[in-house]
Formats: sequence, structure tokens, C-alpha cells
Amino acid sequence: MAEQTQPADMSRWPLVIAGGFFLIMLAIFVVAFIVLSGEDTGMDADDITETAYMDIVTPLLVDADPERGREHFQRYGCTACHGNQNLAPAVDVMIASAGERRPPMQAVAYIYESIIYPGAFVVPGYQNNMPRTYSDTIDEAHLGDLIAFLSGVEAEPAPEIPEDDPLSIETPSGDDATDADEEFALSADGNVILTPALIREYEDLAEFLLAGANPERGPELVIEYGCSVCHGDLAAGILAAGYAEMGQMAAERRPPLSAAAYLYEAIIYPRRNTVEGWDDNMPDDYAEMISTVDLGDIIAYLLTYADE
Ligand code: HEC
Ligand code: HEC
Repeated sequence: MAEQTQPADMSRWPLVIAGGFFLIMLAIFVVAFIVLSGEDTGMDADDITETAYMDIVTPLLVDADPERGREHFQRYGCTACHGNQNLAPAVDVMIASAGERRPPMQAVAYIYESIIYPGAFVVPGYQNNMPRTYSDTIDEAHLGDLIAFLSGVEAEPAPEIPEDDPLSIETPSGDDATDADEEFALSADGNVILTPALIREYEDLAEFLLAGANPERGPELVIEYGCSVCHGDLAAGILAAGYAEMGQMAAERRPPLSAAAYLYEAIIYPRRNTVEGWDDNMPDDYAEMISTVDLGDIIAYLLTYADE
């Protein structure tokens, strides 16, 4: 046959090339396998150590400012629980004990863990009620500021948390201020007076948001966005009204606003109107966090209670 007539060394070439290929592929495969399996096991629960936290926390603290942290603490609604010692540890207690709660963890690593993995350690005497959503909702710069504030970096005397004076909660200045640049006339009780332009704006936006909205996603979304921390079954009536009540009352809360327009204002501009009987603790940065689709679905969900 033709092959047998070829010189022996020529006929081995295809074999040598195929073998070389195989070895190269094997090497790539082994390297990829080692790299990938390394990634998989890199951050197991057991491995989340103080060192791992410090690797994340140290860069966060580079430009951190405890004074800004204090503002974020109000703005993210932390004061809703941490302003009441029965619900959560008070700020001065947190600052004083952060370095001792979980030795050998340093204060900053412990605070980081408390905010991002709240269930990892529950302070004795309290329920495991710290919201689980902050890893998604707090951006890195704000997180650094909060850690600086709560670990007592350049500690100042424990801040005063305004309790019955909601209007003294300042909107932080800077590009992330939502409402600061607009001026509105206020009524005697401190709420923004509705103008025809404002009413039209809310009604138009609510109509736009509700077109095609899916109320069935609501129950999932209110958990995802952390609303249930204050409005869910466990907190309703203690921290804020529950969903059914909000839906049922929406049409009457702020005449002449329709229920949908009212809910839009209440979620996106919570500082413009405060429901009587509650502290003004509703977070005011949902405008930056909720997509229009999700907002429409949440409003549609709350409105399902309006017909009951
Ligand atoms: C719904 C109520 C609630 C809200 C809102 C809340 N927390 Fe907490 N937090 C708790 C409770 C309850 C504890 C104590 C139980 C635990 O350790 O999980 C706690 C514990 C902590 C601790 C550890 C305290 C200590 O003394 O060791 C830190 C730090 C903390 N929270 C920071 C924050 C920050 C920052 C925010 C806002 C971004 C926030 N919390 C919002 C309820 C809340
Ligand atoms: C940290 C606690 C907290 C969180 C989180 C929170 N709220 Fe609120 N919310 C409040 C409080 C307190 C009030 C009542 C004071 C006010 O009107 O601002 C309120 C008021 C409201 C109102 C008007 C209620 C009424 O009875 O007329 C609506 C609607 C509302 N919230 C929806 C939401 C939605 C939707 C989310 C999530 C996207 C959310 N809230 C997250 C605390 C919270």
C-alpha cells in the first residue's frame, strides 16, 4: 500500500504533530482547571476571615469621611432602627463596642461585616432584623463613609439623631442630592404645597408608569428593594404602615392626587409629604435605585389593595 512505501521517519510526522497538540491542550486544560477551581473555593463562608474583610475595607476607607457617614446613616434610613434602642443598638454603643464584638476583628472589619453580612453575628439582646439588602443598595463610597463613622475613625462626640423634628434631617449636598435644588412652598405642617404643575407631573408620570405594569411582581420587588424592612408584616404598624393600609388610604392621603400619583410622590419624593403619625424615615434615594418598570409594578401592586 502507498503508506507502507513511505520512509519511516516521514510517516511519524502526523503522529508527532497530533501528540504535540494533545500535550498543549492538556496543559491549557490543567491550568484552566486549577485557576477555575481556585476561584470557586476562594470565598467560602469559612474563608471569610478578618484578613479577607480588611482587603476589602482598607481601600473603602481611603477617602472616607465620618462626617459624611453620619449623613448617610440618616439618609439610608439606618436611624429608623438605630435611633430606638429597643429595636437596634444606638450609635454611641456601636462606636464604643465595634472593636470588641468579635475579637480579633478590628472595628472597621466588624462594621463592614455587620452591614454587608448582617446575619453573620447577631448582637446579643437583639433580633436578627438588620436589613439584608445593603450589599446591593449602598454604594462603595457611602459604605466607606459609614464604616468610618461607625467605627469612630476620628471620632467626634456621638451624633444627635433628630427624633421628633423630621425637617431637621438635611438632604446631603453634592451630586447625589435628590431634592435639594428645588424650592417649594411649605404648608404649616411642613409638607410641600401641591401646585397645578406638580399635580400634573405626578399624574402624568403615574399614568406612564402604570401602563403595562405587572402587580404580581410587587411582593417580590418590595423585598428586593428593602421596603419590607419597614412596611412588611413584621414592621408594619411599628416602623411604618403596611402595604394593605398604604394601598387603601392612597386615594385619600393627599387630595386632589389620585391614589397612583400619591404613591408615586410617596416613594420618589418622600420628603415632600409626611404621613401624620410617622417619623419622616422613609429613605429618599429610591429615585436613584428603582427602575421605572419596577416602580410601576410596585405602585400597581399597592393599588391592588385600593379596591378591597
Ligand atoms: C430594620 C431595622 C434596622 C435598620 C434599618 C438598620 N439596622 Fe443595623 N441593626 C439592626 C439590628 C436589630 C441590629 C442588632 C442585631 C444584629 O447584630 O444583627 C443591627 C446591628 C447593626 C450593627 C452592629 C451593631 C453592634 O452594636 O455591634 C451595625 C454596625 C449596623 N447595624 C449598621 C447599620 C447601618 C449602617 C444601617 C443603615 C445603612 C442599619 N444598620 C440599618 C437593625 C437595623
Ligand atoms: C427605613 C424604613 C422605610 C423603608 C425601607 C421604606 N419606607 Fe416607605 N415609609 C417609611 C415611613 C416611616 C413612612 C411614613 C412617613 C412618611 O410619609 O415619609 C413611609 C411612607 C411610605 C408611603 C406612604 C404611606 C402612606 O401611608 O400613605 C409609601 C407608599 C411608601 N412608604 C412606600 C415604600 C416603598 C415602595 C418602599 C421600598 C421601595 C419603602 N416605602 C421603603 C419607612 C420606610
